[in-house]
Amino acid sequence: MNSWSSWRKAAHRALYGPGGFYLRPEGPAGHFRTSVHASPLFAGALARLARAANLTRVVDVGAGRGELLVAMTRIDPDLRLHGVDVAACPDALPPCIGWSDTVPDGAPALLVANEWLDNVPVDIVEVDGKGTPRIVEVESGTGRERLGPEAADADAAWLNRWWPLKGAAPGTRAEIGAPRDEAWAAAVHRLGRGLAVAIDYGHDRDSRPPAGTLAGYRQGRAVDPVPDGTCDVTWHVAVDAVAAAGEAAGAHGTVLRTQREALRALGVEGTRPPYDLARSNPRAYLDALRDAGEAGELTARGGLGDFRWVVQGVGMDVPALLREA
Ligand SMILES: C[S@@+](CC[C@H](N)C(=O)[O-])C[C@H]1O[C@@H](n2cnc3c(N)ncnc32)[C@H](O)[C@@H]1O
Repeated sequence: MNSWSSWRKAAHRALYGPGGFYLRPEGPAGHFRTSVHASPLFAGALARLARAANLTRVVDVGAGRGELLVAMTRIDPDLRLHGVDVAACPDALPPCIGWSDTVPDGAPALLVANEWLDNVPVDIVEVDGKGTPRIVEVESGTGRERLGPEAADADAAWLNRWWPLKGAAPGTRAEIGAPRDEAWAAAVHRLGRGLAVAIDYGHDRDSRPPAGTLAGYRQGRAVDPVPDGTCDVTWHVAVDAVAAAGEAAGAHGTVLRTQREALRALGVEGTRPPYDLARSNPRAYLDALRDAGEAGELTARGGLGDFRWVVQGVGMDVPALLREA
């Protein structure tokens, strides 16, 4: 039965409630392509980052069906790998890879969250005709919207700090990122020691989109976001707010980079192989050509290359290769 609630509650039910979108058997890869699916070069870069930081353990938060970890174990079999997801441990996961629904305590690790935070449901406000930000309510089965109450004090404080709406025109929207800040802070806190890396499409104070970023995806296509469990519902991430939350939870030395900058620093170049190689070693030439194409996709302007990396040290420094990227 259809019901009205705030976007945060509606999306939470639709994505993670009984029969929720993220609990469906096909998993996220059945609906959209992340950097993980685009190329094993992404897993290779993260394995190199772990080694550059002298870390031998990797924890993947929002691990989907474990695709990143499976790729990493092929590239660097000596890494100890662990996936964290609200979805159950995938049947086909190699037994050497651990799995749980919360970040485990343990030895220092590289904690990676690729496209996790954009799926932490948040509320939306819209400025009404009198200039007041009001919570947007949504009908579960249709996606129809109406304006509800004013934002509560804590939400208003978050907006004032990170996404101020003073003087904004009626219809302007903002997304209250507090729940994802809390999720990131909790992950950093549980990590205890290591490197924490959040990778997502995002914005900062200078680039907040006035219409907001709410979007829906189903089977590889952008669709109207309807919180009915049949499509992904997602919001771009306020990366500056997430970084501040991580620092408040004990991280330091935050490095903010585009994926293009980060992957290039980690050796994902996308340079085409020389033609001579085609004659001397055709197989190596074809492999290098494939890698160049995949690196191009991972670092493309207007695509995955524009993703934002938030890299934070927890009881250790961020490796120089990313600080200097
Ligand atoms: C967009 S998918 C990304 C999957 C994978 N990281 C990738 O890049 O292909 C987001 C994942 O985050 C998971 N997720 C959402 N909230 C979570 C939470 N609180 N704890 C663990 N996993 C969560 C979802 O179940 C989903 O698998």
